[in-house]
Amino acid sequence: MLSGPQSKRPEGSAVFKPGGGDSDTIVTAMTAHSSTPASSTSRPWSPVSWRDFPAAQQPKYPDPEMVEAVIGQLASLPPLVTSWEIESLKHQLAEAAEGERFVLQGGDCAERFDECEASAIASKLKILLQMSLVLVHGTHKRVIRVGRFGGQYAKPRSSDLETRDGMTLPSYRGDIVNGIAFTEAARTPDPVRMLRGYERSALTINFIRSLIDGGFADLHHPEYWDLEFVRHSPQAAEYQKIVESIGQSLRFMETLAGVQVGQMRRVDFYTSHEGLLLPYEQAQTRQVPHRRGYYNLSTHFPWLGMRTCPLDSAHVDYFRGISNPIAVKIGPDITVDWLTGLLNVLHPDNEPGRMTIITRFGAHQIATCLPPLIDAVERTGKRVLWICDPMHGNTEMTASGLKTRKFEHILVELEQAFEIHRMKGTYLGGVHVELTGDDVTECTGGARGLNEEDLQRAYRTQVDPRLNYEQSLEMAMIIARRVAASEAAR
Ligand code: PEP
Ligand code: CO
Repeated sequence: MLSGPQSKRPEGSAVFKPGGGDSDTIVTAMTAHSSTPASSTSRPWSPVSWRDFPAAQQPKYPDPEMVEAVIGQLASLPPLVTSWEIESLKHQLAEAAEGERFVLQGGDCAERFDECEASAIASKLKILLQMSLVLVHGTHKRVIRVGRFGGQYAKPRSSDLETRDGMTLPSYRGDIVNGIAFTEAARTPDPVRMLRGYERSALTINFIRSLIDGGFADLHHPEYWDLEFVRHSPQAAEYQKIVESIGQSLRFMETLAGVQVGQMRRVDFYTSHEGLLLPYEQAQTRQVPHRRGYYNLSTHFPWLGMRTCPLDSAHVDYFRGISNPIAVKIGPDITVDWLTGLLNVLHPDNEPGRMTIITRFGAHQIATCLPPLIDAVERTGKRVLWICDPMHGNTEMTASGLKTRKFEHILVELEQAFEIHRMKGTYLGGVHVELTGDDVTECTGGARGLNEEDLQRAYRTQVDPRLNYEQSLEMAMIIARRVAASEAAR
């Protein structure tokens, strides 16, 4: 949680050695070779046991000794988040799985080192906060805000190598691994980038904590939002009503309490990223005082991507041992046996809030892919939180070679996700979106009806296309309406 009292003892600085002893001993991923048994299997687990399994999507560093040196440095630096924040999120996610909360998870496809600056961070936070207010008011549920930020620097790639004009170089794997420029120097994986990524994550999280602590009060008021797009929508009247009712209820609360809403209740924000680059994740994996197990203290809520989740993989081994709430993101290639196998390994104790499944099938495949998986998970008797990522299954190329997504396809997948869960008696407890608070033109459609030609105007992503400010706010309004309708039908 990126707010609230921070009065407890700093974590990661000193922890009790497992097995007791009265002197504090620093135990980090570098020194913690004493394995702890994971409850899922009898196989011992430690923050380094993933190294015994095949690890997909890892860079080939030319200097392995340098990698170990960097891991050592990262392991000695302070953690980015704390175990009590992580446990508080887990508790909230457990409530979301029970239908009591709704998760809004969003941010860039990939953070970039040179975009670690004030206005980009503030505008991302702003849109997520505004979306969450729309959701709170529309759904009457508490919303859990989770950013894809503060560490979303590593990207899975479909190919290890990229060839241009006869030259072949390693693929770009995100700023935490290598540079995007197509030169040998930039593309050679550099372990020192892990330190730079850690530092930027810390700067990002620090700035977000400060914004939440003070400067964002005005954002609670729709009077300050940029709502020009509402006029362009066929749903203009309905959107206007939503906005007015948010304004009215805020003013009502302020009159009642005699203080500004923004100062009355600070909001919580949590961080998430794909746990892809295992040496980085390992380095920040620690034991903490007075708690069992190990926590990944680089983020609250890491997710496991489908390209790295075969059952006997390094990533699955790593994720089974950490105590954070975790998510697995699945697409059309998943099978019932694979998913239930993952639940056995990753969610053996059915701990409330531990396990989230993020589905990303695309508008055309969700209706065939999702229902049998819901049935299979229900048969296991295990509680999971279901989140829909309506972005990654709907990526397409324009004729001119730009990666884009159609707003309508995103909505169709989302709409179907709500409907399928309603029919199955399960609860769609959140959305996972790629967005930015800026006026980019990367996805087509939305109230302004952006078309392929508009994409040229402000197409900035180097990876996946994001919803812009207006499209994001519009999506929140549509989701709010849909959650309310699903609740009415329950
Ligand atoms: C992502 O979340 O940016 C991503 C790469 O997702 P997926 O693995 O689902 O394609
Ligand atoms: Co993406």
